[in-house]
Amino acid sequence: MFVSPNIATFAGEMKKILFICLGNICRSPAADGIMKHLVAERGLEDKYFIDSAGIGSWHVGQLPDRRMRQCGQRHGYNFDHRARQFSSKDFARFDYIAVMDQENYYDVARQANSPSDLQKIIRMSDYLRHHPGQKTVPDPYYGSERDFEFALELLEDACEGLLESLL
Ligand code: 4NP
Repeated sequence: MFVSPNIATFAGEMKKILFICLGNICRSPAADGIMKHLVAERGLEDKYFIDSAGIGSWHVGQLPDRRMRQCGQRHGYNFDHRARQFSSKDFARFDYIAVMDQENYYDVARQANSPSDLQKIIRMSDYLRHHPGQKTVPDPYYGSERDFEFALELLEDACEGLLESLL
């Protein structure tokens, strides 16, 4: 007898990735949009659940920073995530919590409930394949258009590396 799998079964089979940055308006919504784009290109939308969140609550409900949206448009992306704040409950909801820098790492790690939560935290810089020696995805918020372009370039590299490592 064929028993049709329910949505929970499908959701259980999905890999769930949460991208984290400080404000959730520059780097992590860009990573979220890039990864969704890569997943869609490969027809893997039913295998990955992707979201992003910020350490701080300052920008909750906002679209990504205009400069990052414009930068994304120049590269063929539409970043339309609405900012939300990271919560310790996210450890139960996600398999991977991908942070941009060491400050994000500590801010997330101190909210972990168990050693297995801690193991879910990964650094985007560990998945870079074309930027040797780069240890963070630097915050472009107080920077120039060049800084936004560099953050996007790093995120494209790291998202490709991360997806390859998960496949
Ligand atoms: P993000 O950049 O962490 O890449 O979203 C920032 C956005 C806003 C602020 C800091 C960083 N802020 O201080 O408001």
